[in-house]
Amino acid sequence: MKQQRHHLFTILACALGSVTILIGAWKSVVRHRAAREMAERKEFFARFGLDSDGSREFVALPKALTCNALSARLGEALFIDKRLARSPYRVCGACHRLNEGGIDARALDGRLPRTVYNAIFADVFLHDGSVTGFPALVRHMIESPNHCAGGPLSNVVARLAADEKLCKRFQMAYPDGLTEDNLLDAFSQYQRTLFSSGLPFDHWCNGRTNALDATQIKGFALFRQRKCTDCHYGPALGTLKVADGKKVPGLRGLSQRRAYLPDARIDLRAVLTLMPGGDLESEDRRALTAFLKSL
Ligand code: HEC
Ligand code: HEC
Repeated sequence: MKQQRHHLFTILACALGSVTILIGAWKSVVRHRAAREMAERKEFFARFGLDSDGSREFVALPKALTCNALSARLGEALFIDKRLARSPYRVCGACHRLNEGGIDARALDGRLPRTVYNAIFADVFLHDGSVTGFPALVRHMIESPNHCAGGPLSNVVARLAADEKLCKRFQMAYPDGLTEDNLLDAFSQYQRTLFSSGLPFDHWCNGRTNALDATQIKGFALFRQRKCTDCHYGPALGTLKVADGKKVPGLRGLSQRRAYLPDARIDLRAVLTLMPGGDLESEDRRALTAFLKSL
């Protein structure tokens, strides 16, 4: 009897010991996984030049990333330079209005421009993702008959080369002065200053919890529950992949734009019904729309 009790005690002690060891091991696995996720997230944002301690999935967008200031200013001037375009209505800044969220909602040629804000995060461009790399995108925008229609880039550079002042500015920014590559680089440097920062969601990412109201927070939860983040992820909440032959647009800066999708729709709630996971009860759709308006 005594021996049996002793046995029972040993079995219990062993079981308790194993449970403690198992819990310890499980805790360490969880801790390890969390640390790995943090490190991965940190690395992910660092790829875009963004600083993050990895504890958050979403980060506030910067006002600017480090860039060559002389080149960026050249890019800024070229953005509205008529010599790049067939007509004054076809300079970059005419279709990409910086005070209207980076687009012109009147959709010249029947196609709504994609925003220039946050575009530096993307690898592939255009609605079908057919252009790779930012310099190639700028070349396309300058040469394409649907955009600036300035003719071959070499012609544009030849036209600009007649401007002594501009050539001097290029020489100050680049050892080899005005060339096709340097012109494209000036646009890339300028692009590093074009972010939709300082909006409510940015403040929320920075830890200001009252930057979103209760409806928007519910909308944010729905945004994740309904798996919008399968496609709309990364610093711009999009721009990183092509789904069903269409480039996923970034949603950051959406509140500053007044039209959506290539065919320039103006009803944001109706746009949601077209999205996978966007078929919601009207109350939920209202919350999700309110969240999108915080971006
Ligand atoms: C005539 C109007 C027009 C002009 C001029 C124009 N664009 Fe665009 N831009 C568009 C349209 C339309 C799109 C979307 C095209 C598409 O997705 O197929 C676009 C897309 C873009 C994008 C976003 C691409 C993406 O996939 O996210 C950037 C960045 C851009 N343009 C920069 C520029 C620059 C720089 C210039 C000047 C060199 C310029 N654009 C001139 C209409 C224009
Ligand atoms: C399978 C990928 C995918 C998922 C999931 C997805 N989207 Fe999209 N989203 C896209 C693509 C692709 C476009 C652009 C469509 C086009 O160019 O015609 C888009 C466009 C949008 C636009 C228009 C943006 C603009 O500037 O024109 C909004 C708003 C949007 N999505 C919100 C959402 C919301 C909210 C959800 C979740 C309910 C969601 N999306 C789920 C792929 C996705």
